[in-house]
Amino acid sequence: MNNAKGILAAVAAVCAVSGAHAMLSDADALAAARNTLSKMTLEEKVLLTGGSGTMTISAIPRVGITKEWTMSDNSSTVRPQMNRWDWGYTKPRSQNTKLPSLSALAQTWDPLMAKLHGEVLGAEMRDRGVDELLGPGVNIARTPLNGRNWEYLGEDPFLAATMCVPMIKGIQSFDVAATVKHFCLNNQEWNRTKVDTHCDDRTFNEIYMPAFRAAVKEGEVLCVMTSYNKIDGIWASENKYLQKAILRDRWGFKGLIETDWGGQHSNSYSANNGGGIEMDRGDKIVHHFNPKENKLPLADAVKAGKVPVATVDDMALRVLYVMAKTGFLTGAERKAGSRNTKEHQLAARTIGEESVVLAKNDAGVLPLDASKIRKVLVLGKNANNPQCSKGCSGEGNVPYEVSFIQGLKNRLGKDVEIIHKPLPKGKVKASNDKELDVDLSGVERAGGHIDKDAKKADSSAPALDELKKLAEGADAVIVFTGTELGYDGNMESEGRDRANMNSDPGEDESVAAVLDWGAKNTVVISRAGTPVGYTWTDKAKTILMSSYLGMEEGNSIARVVFGDVNPSGRLCHTWPKRYEDTGVAQMGTYNDKDVTYNERFYVGYRWFDYKKIEPMFAFGHGLSYTKFAYGNPSLSRGADGSFAVEVKVSNAGKVAGREVVQLYATYPGTKVERCVKELKGFAKTRLLNPGESETVKISVSLRDLAYWNEFTHRFTTDAGQYEFLVGSTSSDIRGKVSSSVAETSVFAD
Ligand code: BGC
Repeated sequence: MNNAKGILAAVAAVCAVSGAHAMLSDADALAAARNTLSKMTLEEKVLLTGGSGTMTISAIPRVGITKEWTMSDNSSTVRPQMNRWDWGYTKPRSQNTKLPSLSALAQTWDPLMAKLHGEVLGAEMRDRGVDELLGPGVNIARTPLNGRNWEYLGEDPFLAATMCVPMIKGIQSFDVAATVKHFCLNNQEWNRTKVDTHCDDRTFNEIYMPAFRAAVKEGEVLCVMTSYNKIDGIWASENKYLQKAILRDRWGFKGLIETDWGGQHSNSYSANNGGGIEMDRGDKIVHHFNPKENKLPLADAVKAGKVPVATVDDMALRVLYVMAKTGFLTGAERKAGSRNTKEHQLAARTIGEESVVLAKNDAGVLPLDASKIRKVLVLGKNANNPQCSKGCSGEGNVPYEVSFIQGLKNRLGKDVEIIHKPLPKGKVKASNDKELDVDLSGVERAGGHIDKDAKKADSSAPALDELKKLAEGADAVIVFTGTELGYDGNMESEGRDRANMNSDPGEDESVAAVLDWGAKNTVVISRAGTPVGYTWTDKAKTILMSSYLGMEEGNSIARVVFGDVNPSGRLCHTWPKRYEDTGVAQMGTYNDKDVTYNERFYVGYRWFDYKKIEPMFAFGHGLSYTKFAYGNPSLSRGADGSFAVEVKVSNAGKVAGREVVQLYATYPGTKVERCVKELKGFAKTRLLNPGESETVKISVSLRDLAYWNEFTHRFTTDAGQYEFLVGSTSSDIRGKVSSSVAETSVFAD
């Protein structure tokens, strides 16, 4: 069962990497940055306002910046270094550990896993000489069609905020910078470089801002990347309200702001409206500093009186501040890194294991007993289809990748026969088919990794009758379905959205046919970074749901299948039965030009609760191989008015396991419109043996209960009644406590 010691050992081993810690205090970093700035000419300052290549910022040895500042994507690996002027990779390409995607990390519901994830990335950055990681991505899943949901932390602002903070701290504990992206309202990839988004103030603050705010205020993230889209007609990259009023003034952000690659549109307008440094493919960086032609247009704008020199000072100071914080500027000894170690690989496997969700186990088929299995039939091409090198800026280059088939072989050994066959499908459309109606222009800019080959009907797949014969002789039939990363058909990737919420044509029909056989020990495994509108879930008795798990994916899933690990993941998305049930679909607000978020704050489960629509699987859903009994929750108040809910959770089953206790607030008698319920806290227990208990304590501050008051522009917690639902999932509530607040509180931010 869950390898609790393994988890702790992995964490300890990553943290134990030796070396001095260079991270300066804010005051010292600012002093060092100001000192360097004072020695710089206008031209030298302007060098810091744009990249010196695709992933670098200039060295200026005269003032002590002896090397280029180096960046690298992404949120689950350190992507190999790119060429200075284009999207190619410098040779030889480095290899790095690929961890689970952020959609998987969110499914762990475990901040300790987020910390571990960040530490592995930080350690690998230091070993590679990378100063800034272009992650984590924290955009909220507004629609299941978003091609990048797999790169983000799910649909709930509280979950995303809670998970991004330890990840950022983990990365930055290695004296490097993390970058929270894409700021903001970038919740679709469809025409992402041109679309204009409109969102009311309350929704903006309650749904789309909390993760960014937490990243800045609690995670102390050093860098923010703006998004490509426009917001009310103004590019996010040069939007004074976002970058000055919110980021700098309200949240006090002192760090570096940079555009997404190719997201800058002007010279003086951008500088005068809070724009940060311009990043793009090296040969296209032109507005502030043009490295290819060695021109300094921003210096010219200053000389022409169009941009105050103080503005350039501020832009350069922010870069220098981040360089100073990490020790890069001061030359302090930075924490030593390491790469592709056994500990990092164990971390990848462990985070993956902790993220797998047991969605159904009606007949108790799982875990399978390995000692009774001599022959397994695995159906579905994706069971052996590598993903780690796919996903555009989310891609990696790994020393090895364990597919599910390989994971089964590792687990079951040589004596067990594993037969793997693709499932018959219909013809899958090519990415350039008109019907898909997707704009690939953003993709071309972002790396040119488009696989343009049409995916044909799978001619290698045997007919279902033939597969059925194979199933008759097998001890278990495992169907592996879901999505793939890439640009064909309905895959998930950057720069385009999925055309619909469906599986590939014909795939659902094949899965349903297999389920109708009633073969013994039939298990369906779904792997996807976003909800898929499967049509066969009522027929399936046993479903495991995984997201993209990186290089150890096969081992992580196999260890759950055979009960070495008791699943404790919980969904980070509501899985709708069909696309038509989603808020975005019903409100008709999804297009490629002007998108108004008029479902407002009813995003994810908030929408399904509000409209009383039953989803396929609820947000937070996830079962276990054991059962947990809950005691009665109790509530106490802190001197600051905060709430603490305590509940005793006991393992009442036969195997060890971890429970995720979820706490949702409801607002009986509220005078303002509120959601039916909202996640306000959660806690994952330690591994509890049968009969063991743990009392978890979940704290909720008064501010956590606030709504955004559009009149006063302040978060406000009204006097009145508050109820806390304590549950195993959002639809399995085990207890309630309530309390009242005597006076209304208004929060400055
Ligand atoms: C993506 C970013 C990424 C950047 C650099 C952009 O196209 O949107 O997430 O960090 O490219 O590769």
